[in-house]
Amino acid sequence: MEQNRRILILDFGGQYNQLIARRVREQHVYCEVHPCTMPLAEILAFDPAGIIFTGGPHSVYEPGAPAADPAVFTLGIPVLGICYGCQYMAAALGGEVAPAQSASAREYGKTPTVFETSCTLFSGLPEQSITWMSHGDYIARLPQGFVFAARSAACPSAAIADETRRFYGVQFHPEVNHTEQGRAILANILFGACRAAADWTMEDFREKSVRALREKIGDGRVLLALSGGVDSAVCAALLSEAVGRQLICVFVDHGLMRKDEGDRIEAVFSQMDLCFIRVDARRRFLKKLSGVRKPEEKRKIIGTEFIRVFEEESRALGTVEYLAQGTIYPDVIESGGGKAAVIKSHHNVGGLPEEVRFRGILEPLRLLFKDEVRSLGRTLGLPEDLVTRQPFPGPGLAVRIIGSVTEKKLAMLREADAVFREEMTASGLAEAASQYFAALTNLRSVGVMGDSRSYDLAVVLRAVSTEDFMTADWVRLPYDLLDRVSSRIVNEVPGVNRVLYDITSKPPATVELE
Ligand code: XMP
Repeated sequence: MEQNRRILILDFGGQYNQLIARRVREQHVYCEVHPCTMPLAEILAFDPAGIIFTGGPHSVYEPGAPAADPAVFTLGIPVLGICYGCQYMAAALGGEVAPAQSASAREYGKTPTVFETSCTLFSGLPEQSITWMSHGDYIARLPQGFVFAARSAACPSAAIADETRRFYGVQFHPEVNHTEQGRAILANILFGACRAAADWTMEDFREKSVRALREKIGDGRVLLALSGGVDSAVCAALLSEAVGRQLICVFVDHGLMRKDEGDRIEAVFSQMDLCFIRVDARRRFLKKLSGVRKPEEKRKIIGTEFIRVFEEESRALGTVEYLAQGTIYPDVIESGGGKAAVIKSHHNVGGLPEEVRFRGILEPLRLLFKDEVRSLGRTLGLPEDLVTRQPFPGPGLAVRIIGSVTEKKLAMLREADAVFREEMTASGLAEAASQYFAALTNLRSVGVMGDSRSYDLAVVLRAVSTEDFMTADWVRLPYDLLDRVSSRIVNEVPGVNRVLYDITSKPPATVELE
């Protein structure tokens, strides 16, 4: 691939490392996150327009505190240190970092900050603004060549700068939204200090990827397990553009999808220039799941069965040179940054059988964040509902039915879920939740319908908002919407006589019910 003028982010263990990368890419500047121990030769080969040191949970004076090769300061490349990265730079260049002596000198949260607007970092910004701080150490003595560039009430070194060498440090986090001028500060670094090029676009990525994929694959064949999720869908569309019918997409229909979803996937992909195979494995999965009540057992059965079906299909295809996977950048960073990502266990293709051998694994999305994957999907002409599709668990509706799974319960849940989705869309609230769905409980309760008594099941509605799905809050949906959904479900779905709304956050609950 040709090189863009790119930024190198050295990771010192901070919780916002991915967010920094997303903020940089938002400004159309390509960047990658690598461990802070990246060898100097690799840094040179990367040829960055600038380097950003992330924050981290350590103190620079702790034994074994993370460090970069100090030779990075001799390359003539601009550096921005954020929080720990700022302290590390100050200490490495001969300054002094010390723990804040009093509680009031430690800063957490939104902090009024005064900027020195003659500094490149704050050029064109107001003199006062709110920044977001989270630090217990501070820079007690500046390294030679540096000046203070911003201050808060508790901290004279809210930012430091050496304009000659183009080294900058901020004690606060410009990448979080609470820092009001965060994006402008990063833009000043990217375009003012690093003179990076804003040439990172999905059109460009698409063109270069297609070229590179064609070159690599040659006349070989590629196999992709299509789940209908955003990542595998975009992966399929990209590969289809690159190698057309050399791409074989296998969609294992396990019968645990939402209403009409299997047909929708078939409708979209069977029209593309690729070889689409829909395997109807519905009976097979239902049989295996029959009478199984425990969540973990269900997940295991579904995972294993999936591999079996996929394996049978692969064998029937004869020699296939490549296996493609929709691995995305957060998986790569989390698995150690830059190292070959292992096949994700929660991916549908977890643990491929030994006898299915491929010449290589293709991961064409491995450098993209989720929002970039969506944007690439749009560029490739995928329909909007597929590109914005919510996350959907691999084991599908089986983990949204408490207890045993039957065809009848699946049909009830599909209808109830479709009602909820329709009403969310109609009320314009679909965007208010990161994920929402109906689940079927095993709770039977007494009801009265017309003149007769019922003893039927309860449906639970769940809607959550979240940034990362590690924690999530339940969404305060309007009562009149809940009312409409409830009365429609009870009227339209036989066997359901009660609708509950889940008002538990994660933790202590999880997003899915099983
Ligand atoms: P939980 O229930 O763990 O869900 O709070 C967090 C997010 O992960 C999704 N999820 C899964 N995704 N395979 C997947 O690919 C799975 O087995 C699985 N279980 C949960 C869930 O939908 C939510 O977005």
